[in-house]
Amino acid sequence: MSTTQFENDLSDVVASDKAHVWHHLMQHKMFETVDPKIIVEGKGMRVWDITGKEHLDAVSGGVWTVNVGYGRDTIADAVRDQLVKMNYFAGALGSVPGARFSERLISKMPSMTRVYYSNSGSEANEKAFKMVRQISAQHHGGKKSKILYRERDYHGTTITALSAAGQPQRQAHYGPFTPGFVEVPHCLEYRNQYGVVENYGERAADAIEEVILREGPDTIGGLCLETITAGGGVITPPKGYWERVQEICTKYGILLILDEVVCGVGRTGEWFGYQHYGIKPDIVTMAKGVASGYAAISCTVTTEAVFDLFKADASDPMSYFRDISTFGGCTSGPAAALENMRIIEDEKLLENTTAMGARLEQNLLALKDKHPVIGDVRGKGLFWGAELVADRETKEPVDEIKGQAVVGHCNAEGVLIGVTNRSIPGYNNTLCLSPALIATKSDIDQITGAIDNALTAVFGSGK
Ligand SMILES: Cc1ncc(COP(=O)(O)O)c(C=O)c1O
Repeated sequence: MSTTQFENDLSDVVASDKAHVWHHLMQHKMFETVDPKIIVEGKGMRVWDITGKEHLDAVSGGVWTVNVGYGRDTIADAVRDQLVKMNYFAGALGSVPGARFSERLISKMPSMTRVYYSNSGSEANEKAFKMVRQISAQHHGGKKSKILYRERDYHGTTITALSAAGQPQRQAHYGPFTPGFVEVPHCLEYRNQYGVVENYGERAADAIEEVILREGPDTIGGLCLETITAGGGVITPPKGYWERVQEICTKYGILLILDEVVCGVGRTGEWFGYQHYGIKPDIVTMAKGVASGYAAISCTVTTEAVFDLFKADASDPMSYFRDISTFGGCTSGPAAALENMRIIEDEKLLENTTAMGARLEQNLLALKDKHPVIGDVRGKGLFWGAELVADRETKEPVDEIKGQAVVGHCNAEGVLIGVTNRSIPGYNNTLCLSPALIATKSDIDQITGAIDNALTAVFGSGK
């Protein structure tokens, strides 16, 4: 661990922050006795806080975002050049980077054709929900307006995105919610809900069909799922799940919306998570890694068949998608996204993600051998979770305070990791890892080394 000296005196910053900044997802009482951590600088995989302490960031900016790492001059240059040339015009008109990025993005998503720009993951999902509702109103006589979402998934922070949240602690106190959202069961095999079955993945997908039949297939227009669930516990779908989900959507004429806000743009070692499973979605949403946090951008990407439903009748003034996102017209987003994509390609970061992901998996499995508190290890590419249990037999989750203590120990050692939080009551017990796609072997080993030390400190010496 090393420290750095900053040129300017930043002592006023802590005071201003404590006096006026309302931090996300934080209880502020503790800031009466301790200072908030303020991050000042980042380079590659590392960030420095205001005290000069260096941290290896194993969570890409805390929430799976900075896929290409910190301090990328070329993204900053591309954004700057674009801003001085043409920073903004509302999205009813086109822009040079908007057109160019759409072309590049679609080249990575062969079955899709249209890109709708906005500026957050929540908003991208809201667009998808609005599309389903408008299709229902204009093509199904108001039927097929319900949208299915899955237990443990999360699609954003706005009230309607929260209406589709399978995370009761994210929802609590924010209702009443938007009507017409219906939950289907999660597919986490480690938390088996169906006993001994021949193919768990198919069985878990069949549970979706059961909900469809209960609600009435002609009432349901969309099924929105995270391809790999992130904040709900890093849940990779069991074998056979996606094939069956696809069959069910086709059978009942339900649009399949995949939320790739976390697992899109290289995070899993493919451009998109769904490409591991051969799925053909109707709508894909993405945000965080699209521009690695260098600019705010999100995309709702559709097939031509979905797009066509909004242009079929030009004589009807209500038939097109009557939606706008003011900041979806910012050109900084697609300018940054273009350069972000070039970096991923030129530096072969998908290949690196696959290789370093395999190392991270191997290291985590070795930790599981050593520490009985690790009950399950799940993930793909550089997107992993380790579920902590008090007892491997009963799978009783550890007290979430202990998971947070592990995070605290890693932090003290200069490694930033995460743990699921305020999502599923009693099950905020999965350590989360999502290092940037540039991670090296030694970064991966440093991350798992810190976790090893932290588990020993919190739970004892293991085996
Ligand atoms: C899977 C998923 N979808 C959507 C969102 C919402 O994205 P945003 O915070 O950009 O609105 C998140 C945020 O964490 C997410 O994890």
